[in-house]
This record gives sequence, C-alpha cells and structure tokens, in this order.
Amino acid sequence: MSAKLIKGTEIREQILEEITGEVAQIKEKHNVVPGLVTILIGENPASMSYVTLKIKTAHRVGFKEIQDSQPVDISEADLLALIDKYNNDDSINGILVQLPLPDHIDEKKILNAIDPDKDVDGFHPVNVGRLMIGGSEVKFPPCTPAGIQEMIIRAGVETSGAEVVVVGRSNIVGKPIANMMLQKGDGANSTVTVVHTRTKNMEEHCKRADILIVAAGVPDLVKPEWIKPGACVIDVGVNRVGEKISEKTGKTIAILKGDVDFEAAKEIAGSITPVPGGVGPMTITMLMKNTLKSLKFKLGIE
Ligand code: GUN
Repeated sequence: MSAKLIKGTEIREQILEEITGEVAQIKEKHNVVPGLVTILIGENPASMSYVTLKIKTAHRVGFKEIQDSQPVDISEADLLALIDKYNNDDSINGILVQLPLPDHIDEKKILNAIDPDKDVDGFHPVNVGRLMIGGSEVKFPPCTPAGIQEMIIRAGVETSGAEVVVVGRSNIVGKPIANMMLQKGDGANSTVTVVHTRTKNMEEHCKRADILIVAAGVPDLVKPEWIKPGACVIDVGVNRVGEKISEKTGKTIAILKGDVDFEAAKEIAGSITPVPGGVGPMTITMLMKNTLKSLKFKLGIE
C-alpha cells in the first residue's frame, strides 16, 4: 500500500486563496488591509530568503508589507526602539523579528517587547499562555504547529480520541503542537504523548501512534517499523544533507531530508507529508492567517 500524500504546497494554495478573498472583502467594507512588518538583522542568507518569501507572500494576498532590514551591529536599544515604533503604528497588525538574532542581542528581551496583540509568530509568553488555556483564549497559534493541525484537518484525519505521539519537545514545534492536539475542539481532542532524547523506549511509543508528528531535527530518525500501519505521519524535519544543481534554475540548492525514512514509511503509513513540500510551505501560510486574524480582532470581526 502506498500512503496518501499530504501536500503542503497544495493546501497552501487553498488557504492563500481564502485569505486573498477575505482581504479583498475587508478592504471593500472597512477600507483597510492587514499590515505586516518583518525585521531582518544582518545578512544571514537563510534568513534573507525566508524574509523575502514572507514579504512576497504578504504582497500576493494583498497585505501592506514592510521589510525593515537593519545592520548586524544594531544595538539592542535601537532594536527595542524600532519594535516600539511598530507597536504604535496603527497600520501594522503583525510584527515579526526574524530569528536567529546576533549574539549581542537578547532574543528573549526582543520577543517580549513585541505587543502580544501584534505577535503573529505566537512566541510572546502571553500568547504561549493563551495557547495553553486553549479555546477562545487563543489569538495567534505559532505558525508551524498551526500549519500541522490545518494539514491534519484538511487531510480528513480523525483526531478525536486518536493516539498522537510527538517526537521532540522544542518551544517552536513539539511543546505547542502537543498542547494544541489535546485541547477541546476541531482537529484536536487527542490523547497525546511527547517523546524526546531522554525517552527510554521511543520506538514503542511511536508504534502506538495513530498520528505521528516528528520534529526532532535528525534525518531518518523514524524507521518504517516504528510506524503503525495506516497511521498519519507528519514530518517536520528539514535537514540539509548535501547540495545539488537545480534542474530548473541551474543554481546550487540544498538536498533536504526529513526526520522520517520517507521512501520506506510511505509503504506503511495511511497518509504522510513529503520533505520538501510538506509542512514547510505551511509555516508562512499560517503567518499570513495570523496577520489577517490580527486585523480582524482589531476590527471586532473575529
Ligand atoms: N526563523 C526561522 N523560522 C522562524 C519563524 O517562524 N519566525 C521567526 N521570527 N524567525 C524564524
């Protein structure tokens, strides 16, 4: 049996179309569009390409978008002042400071300075707390976990009462997705186990999973025999394992591998996300959704 592929590239298109339609409606009715600023410090090539894609996507769905690039030696005080400026800018609904930051800047201090009502990354402690409470308290679920949940829902996978096993306990993926899957609500109501580097019998836990979510950052960590036949497998890993020449552009590009041995796993799983083209495209998509939500909260229509 070959698993059904859950393609982030296709789901992204559906969601971006929905967002574009909503933005046009809001513009017509309220004469305003969502505003997103991405703050990029320095010239880290990976960060630059992420930010370029975020800005391009924001433009595509009709947002006002600002890319604010700052030199790598910007002082912490100047960066805090910049965040304060956007906190007080009425045309901006979402503020994103691209991570990682240079060593001389305290990441925690910067993330905590963003107005929680403009924190479309969902990284501010207030939004982490809101996520933990769940239900109508949640404003901005962090983008990668929100993308994972959306993929599971749109793939028609039953989550209520399902055994969900999350591999990895990061603040950005493992902990929030575990929390989201156990809440009451659509795409949730699951029984959740989190396994990590100190777990004694990771394989045994994984074998129980109806939905296996892997965010460990270790290529091919999950072997096919760890997968329950028919399970839904969500692979969050994006591991650079080499380089190749792109057939399309002729440029050198990274060879990416997930945390799951995809070729073998797809013969056992019921549904599975590929790498690339699975969870990856969902993160920026959900950033757009959060930015739109931010404006809707402000207008009192969400
Ligand atoms: N760097 C890599 N991924 C992300 C993300 O989702 N948000 C921010 N702010 N920085 C990142």
